[in-house]
Amino acid sequence: MDIRGTRLRKPSDEALAFTSSMADDGRIARQVISVNMAHMAALVRAGEVDRRVGAKCMSFLAGASPKISSRAKSEDFHQQLEQEAVDLLGVETAGFLNYGKSRNDQVATAIRMELRGSILVLLGSIMELQVALLEQVKRDGGVLVPGYTHLQRAQPTTFAHHLFAHFDALQRDVERALQLYQRVNQSPMGSAAMAGTSVNVDRRYVAGLLGFSGLVRNAMDGVSSRDVAVEAISCATITALDASRLAEELILWSSSEFGYIELSDAYAASSSIMPQKKNAVAAEMARAKAGSVLGGLVAACAILKALPYAYNLDLQEVTPHLWRAMDDVTSTVRVLAGMVASASPKKERLALAVRGDGSTAVGLANHLVKEHGVSFRQAHVVVGELVRISAETGAPLYEVAASKLAAVSASLGKKFTMEGEAIESILDPARFLGEVATEGGANPRLITKELKAREGDVASTRSMLAERKAALAAAERKLRTTTLGLAREVKLRE
Ligand code: ARG
Repeated sequence: MDIRGTRLRKPSDEALAFTSSMADDGRIARQVISVNMAHMAALVRAGEVDRRVGAKCMSFLAGASPKISSRAKSEDFHQQLEQEAVDLLGVETAGFLNYGKSRNDQVATAIRMELRGSILVLLGSIMELQVALLEQVKRDGGVLVPGYTHLQRAQPTTFAHHLFAHFDALQRDVERALQLYQRVNQSPMGSAAMAGTSVNVDRRYVAGLLGFSGLVRNAMDGVSSRDVAVEAISCATITALDASRLAEELILWSSSEFGYIELSDAYAASSSIMPQKKNAVAAEMARAKAGSVLGGLVAACAILKALPYAYNLDLQEVTPHLWRAMDDVTSTVRVLAGMVASASPKKERLALAVRGDGSTAVGLANHLVKEHGVSFRQAHVVVGELVRISAETGAPLYEVAASKLAAVSASLGKKFTMEGEAIESILDPARFLGEVATEGGANPRLITKELKAREGDVASTRSMLAERKAALAAAERKLRTTTLGLAREVKLRE
């Protein structure tokens, strides 16, 4: 018996192929089977379905394959599964599977369940990348590196300070993903098609068996909304953007123009023509993926825009964008973790780069303010003039400053005199950083404390991840026991 019944004639092959989600349903097939189990358990428990009928259905579900059948001409896996049950058990029995539920609440629930897992996998990968950054800090955090604004040398900083900046952006990604998880982890089951159902389905019981921490309160919202999918793709996009900026720096810093880091050959490719090449291809793909993930976000938003309530098949088109975004961002972050872990700073190059390029000039200006009683803008102008002379003559700033400070400041009506040695020391990058007094600044003395705090962040993510995984595993065990317990009853009696 075809569960589509006789209300409609056969769909055209073309229309069926066009509207079917079979090609994408493999991702949620396991979850769809679980939802069927939890729903049947609730029906039997409430006395809505005869125990024997329920037991047979459970026995079928316990052995059901999450494989998408290439032979089945189904609209989706939901239909395939029910059709298989009817073919096997007969419609008198399997015909109760969809009593009090709809594909609408079922698919919304299955997506949320799969998404939970994807979020946890993503979180694990972000954490790996964070750990790789901290490992670099432990090895070479104290190395001085040029800091940039407008991609022009700005001020020296430490390798640690730069790595912490990326770590902290990723930490916000972690926080966002954890908040997202809470909103995803609400069960739509019991919404049925959109209005709820007269069948006694204990929504909280079903939610518990499926590991949800609560319910999507409104049945129409339960089946109509995909904002958690959009939110997940948004989170994926933000993380991918953060990753792309790190990827870009790996590419820049490993180029011969910068020459600040050496990447492992494991993440590079050679050229088919130029024998000397070592291309940072993994980082290039990581940079590019942000574009694809953002494309998915735009697509999902555009599909949802102005879509009337409640369920429309348009919603089906959102789902593949969700999986692609989650997978792309996860592989991006993972590959970057490997690249960061295996990269090493080129210390001689970096030492040359932070010396004598005038990027500590603001230190001299600040000194003039503190010791010579001028405003910062007056000091800025004096030092700016010294830098101009240094740039024009090619003489290092400390030399120019030592010989010209008095004359240049005289034109301001002030006459500053300083020992050449004192000027050189003020302009020294290590001393410059040692004088940074603000929290979160690049003073090397702060590295140990800042590292500890971030190790604490990682530890707390790790334990939150473990907690959520344990909760899901416990629910899965309970669902299995419930299902097998019921399924066994038919075998015992027959
Ligand atoms: N294949 C659908 C999806 O992915 C499942 C729900 C279909 N509902 C319906 N009324 N046709 O969204």
